[in-house]
Amino acid sequence: MSRLLIVTSSLSGAASQSNRLTERYAAGLQASDPALVVTRRDLGRAPVAPLDGARLKAIATPLAMRTAEEALVARESDALIGELQAADVVLIGAPMYNFTVPSQLKSWFDHVARAGVTFRYTATGPEGLVNGKRAVIVTTRGGRHRGRPEDHVVPYVKTMLAFIGIHELEVVYAEGLAIGEQERTRAMSEAEAHIDALTSTELAA
Ligand SMILES: Cc1cc2nc3c(=O)[nH]c(=O)nc-3n(C[C@H](O)[C@H](O)[C@H](O)COP(=O)(O)O)c2cc1C
Repeated sequence: MSRLLIVTSSLSGAASQSNRLTERYAAGLQASDPALVVTRRDLGRAPVAPLDGARLKAIATPLAMRTAEEALVARESDALIGELQAADVVLIGAPMYNFTVPSQLKSWFDHVARAGVTFRYTATGPEGLVNGKRAVIVTTRGGRHRGRPEDHVVPYVKTMLAFIGIHELEVVYAEGLAIGEQERTRAMSEAEAHIDALTSTELAA
């Protein structure tokens, strides 16, 4: 039985192109693996709280030493980490907002990157502790930024995933979505074809 965690971060709800593409990926996997367990973490619909001083202190305090208040505050990020640890495949919907990820997705990474739990520092550098997983990033953009210096989405998400131990990943791009109807249709068709190829390859593997 495989487990898929879908983390989406668009604020556009039903109109979101990245949500549409992540759902296509999930449907592709589920079509041939009805036992697939899918967990959805929709950060656009239900944002996780940005870190603040109290939250940071609660999270940094070991479980047994937390006050009742700290335990309550830490529970949300513990749940996010639990979802991540339980997944075999992590699918991330990452629209480009002002050249980087939506702040909701940044907050999610702030919660799940926890020293001693999802990564640790060693004499030879940081070591990710979230092992044995694959990731797929689906990134949507109004313009075209792939591989360019202003694209802070893909390098950032890749860096964070590698930092916590996820090195095996694919990136699906849907670019130029705001350029015009023709361009948008073409970009979405290409992204859909890429997703279909990924899900059929993964199922054959
Ligand atoms: C707040 C905001 C900021 C955006 N910033 C950029 C940007 O910097 N570059 C770009 O190409 N598109 C930008 N866009 C366009 C989105 O990337 C595009 O609409 C994409 O489809 C969003 O994904 P979604 O449909 O899943 O929400 C922005 C959109 C919003 C709402």
